[in-house]
Order: sequence, then C-alpha cells, then structure tokens
Amino acid sequence: MALRKILEFPDSRLRTVAKDVETVNDSIRTLVDDMFETMYEAQGIGLAATQIDVHLRVVVIDLQDDENQPLVMINPKFKTLTQEIDEMQEGCLSVPGVYEVVKRPDRIRLKAFNRDGEVYEMEAEGLLAVCIQHECDHLNGKLFVDHLSTLKRSRIRSKLAKQKRTEATS
Ligand code: NI
Repeated sequence: MALRKILEFPDSRLRTVAKDVETVNDSIRTLVDDMFETMYEAQGIGLAATQIDVHLRVVVIDLQDDENQPLVMINPKFKTLTQEIDEMQEGCLSVPGVYEVVKRPDRIRLKAFNRDGEVYEMEAEGLLAVCIQHECDHLNGKLFVDHLSTLKRSRIRSKLAKQKRTEATS
C-alpha cells in the first residue's frame, strides 16, 4: 500500500469527470487500499479517486462510528428517497481547514460495486447519505464549495492561498 498525494482546491484536476471502472481487478483493489490508507492518514471520513488524481469512479468511506462498516463504492449511483433536506457542516480533505453548512437530501438509495466486483444496494440516511453524495460529487468534478455562494467560495480560495503562502515561508 502507498500514500497518495491529495489535490487541493482550486486545482483544476479536481474538475475532471471520472470514468466508470470496467473491471474490478487487482489494480483497482490496490487503488482502493491506497485510498483507505491515504484517507486514514489524513483523518478523513471519505475519499474519492478524483482527489488523488485518478479519474475512475472509485470512493472509500469510513465514518468510524459503531454503526457503519468501511464502505467501498465502485461506479456508484444513487437515488434520492425523500424531499427532506439535511443541513450539515461539511469539510473536505481537498479544502483543508474549511467547514461550511451544505443542504442535501437526507435519505438516498445507493447502488455500487464492492472491492470484489459484486454489485450491492443499500439505503443511507443522515451523515452517511451526506457523505455518499459529497463523494459522488467529486467523481463529477464537483466540490462542496460549489454548493455555497460565489462570494463565500472566493473567500475560501483566498484563505487557502494565504495558508499556502504561510506554509511556504515557515
Ligand atoms: Ni471531499
């Protein structure tokens, strides 16, 4: 396994639309394992392949609570099951240090392939539903900051640029 470098907003590579995985083979399984390692190292709860500059539809999630197992989603698709909207504070390993409230449907039905290439379906709600939608956005080149106002997004861009300058000089 190997740690991969996580791209950060506003890197244009984060805007790439990922392609479907055609076969879940050993190289995909290595990618999945690397993604888990990278996500745990960065102390995140979700990571999309897009974020490590691999443009395939692969996501790993681990909410690290008692209820949920680590989740691998290959070629994920979801349907919204409710009109109810969650307002949850979101963060992202590609937008470090920024947390903002985003509105998303509270309950979804997911269909995806697992690490063994088997299809599965499940329903998710609350934080897990939000996390799945956040990660699927990544595969479509979309970031959670795109759900915010233009003004907020440009403030976040300046804040991150400033953080980078400070890191470079310290
Ligand atoms: Ni993210």
